[in-house]
Amino acid sequence: MTEIQAVYAIDRPLFLRERDGHWALSAGPASLDGRTAFAPACRLEDLGDPSFRADHRLRYAYVAGAMANGIGSVEVVEAMSRAGMVGFFGAAGLPLARVKAAIDRLSRSLGDAPHGYNLIHSPNEPDHENAVVELYLSRGVRLVEASAFLDLTLPLIRYRTHGIHADAEGRVVTPNKVIAKVSRVEVASKFFAPPPDRFLQELVRGGALTPEQVRLAGRIPVAQDLTAEADSGGHTDNRPLVTLLPTMAALRDRMQAQFRYDRPLRVGAAGGIATPASAAAAFVMGAAYVVTGTINQACVESGSSDAVRQMLAQAEQADVIMAPAADMFEMGVKVQVLKRGTMFAMRAAKLYELYRAHARLEDLPAAERAALEKNLFRAPLEEIWAQTRVYFMERDPRQVERAEREPKHRMALVFRWYLGQSSRWANVGEPTRKLDYQVWCGPAMGAFNEWTKGSFLEHARNRRVVPVAYNLLYGAAVLLRLSMLRCQGVPLDPEWSRLTPVEPDRLDAATR
Ligand SMILES: Cc1cc2nc3c(=O)[nH]c(=O)nc-3n(C[C@H](O)[C@H](O)[C@H](O)COP(=O)(O)O)c2cc1C
Repeated sequence: MTEIQAVYAIDRPLFLRERDGHWALSAGPASLDGRTAFAPACRLEDLGDPSFRADHRLRYAYVAGAMANGIGSVEVVEAMSRAGMVGFFGAAGLPLARVKAAIDRLSRSLGDAPHGYNLIHSPNEPDHENAVVELYLSRGVRLVEASAFLDLTLPLIRYRTHGIHADAEGRVVTPNKVIAKVSRVEVASKFFAPPPDRFLQELVRGGALTPEQVRLAGRIPVAQDLTAEADSGGHTDNRPLVTLLPTMAALRDRMQAQFRYDRPLRVGAAGGIATPASAAAAFVMGAAYVVTGTINQACVESGSSDAVRQMLAQAEQADVIMAPAADMFEMGVKVQVLKRGTMFAMRAAKLYELYRAHARLEDLPAAERAALEKNLFRAPLEEIWAQTRVYFMERDPRQVERAEREPKHRMALVFRWYLGQSSRWANVGEPTRKLDYQVWCGPAMGAFNEWTKGSFLEHARNRRVVPVAYNLLYGAAVLLRLSMLRCQGVPLDPEWSRLTPVEPDRLDAATR
């Protein structure tokens, strides 16, 4: 066996001994005097926090984050679960019937094997958030990824505390688990605290909780697991992971010391995880688990289209940009999207600029309006409003009432039509609308494309979520061993850390 083969055989410990300035493989720790270096075995299933894997019944501390509009598809969730990882169905933006259909399918195909659903905060549609929670409760959904929350809400607390009880030893049992995903410390501190009393009392008044359950709820955090979301695709505060993760870890330790929960709080890492190096870095920094998003959209199982997957495969590091978000357009919230090959970001920014500058559609300068109708909407704005009205009459009639009272709101809804459709065109691969595709994408994509260049994963058609995940974890394990060798003074051959992705069958041999 050569040195490089030994480094890659991650299931076996590795010893190197220096003789005459040259480091060579050694059978064991012959002597620890002189110069002997050691790297322990580092199996993929040993990465991350063992209690995270145990609590969620996972083999690997690897999570596929939710991706809106079913881009985080049932196929992604199934593949993850069968491989001993967990994926979240992308329920955001979908009508309730589509979420129901996903639950039907996943309960049939996975039963109670690990899988979960997104619970996204919808400030514009509180009724929808409530209906999603009711659906999850009625269908026995046990795990959600809670995201986009600026503050806690009653439906979220209802979900978390539903069915809370004490076991025979008096330990609190919570059938429903929440993995919160946040990028701000003030929001994280709400998730790491027990559920607020005002919500618990409201749930008692409504008959959803008993006073005994309220007492038990005081002993649990709203979320035991919290993903620190750094610069990512979609909604993001663009924080660097190297600064966000230690900050969240410090908060975790402070809040664990304050509340002394029976089970420890945990922090996972998301945002930019796309290469063995980034996964290894997250684990070294103490991440209990890693979460990927952007790179999964580029895989064949995602609910996106081949056209988008092709575009993503071309993306480089700087081919992303912030653009107005459809769901919180009026608040000026932005999402990170793909820049290369689409004019969406520029066009959406124009809409936001017009929204800020004018009180109603009728005030738009004639030339601007004509340009919008010709290039973006490809129809008179009145016609777009008629379509939007029909949509909201079904989904949330209060929006229509408000739009008919407030012309500025009508303008927002019409502009949001474009932001909503642009995602749909991308997802279905509408060929006449390529320049309008809205594709959420983070800098992870460029890093992934760079790493996979020249390998089977370079091609969009070969990208599958599980081989991608295995390669990331495997590469991370190799890099962690190399890093230990370096700490013991071993000069590393650059060749050793050049981790070309390996086909699934060859990876099997290396990892089992
Ligand atoms: C296309 C796309 C859609 C996403 N939609 C959601 C969503 O609906 N809910 C959510 O919690 N996170 C969503 N995310 C974020 C991912 O779940 C994940 O946290 C993030 O992508 C991780 O960072 P990365 O993009 O650098 O991998 C989305 C990400 C992408 C790329």
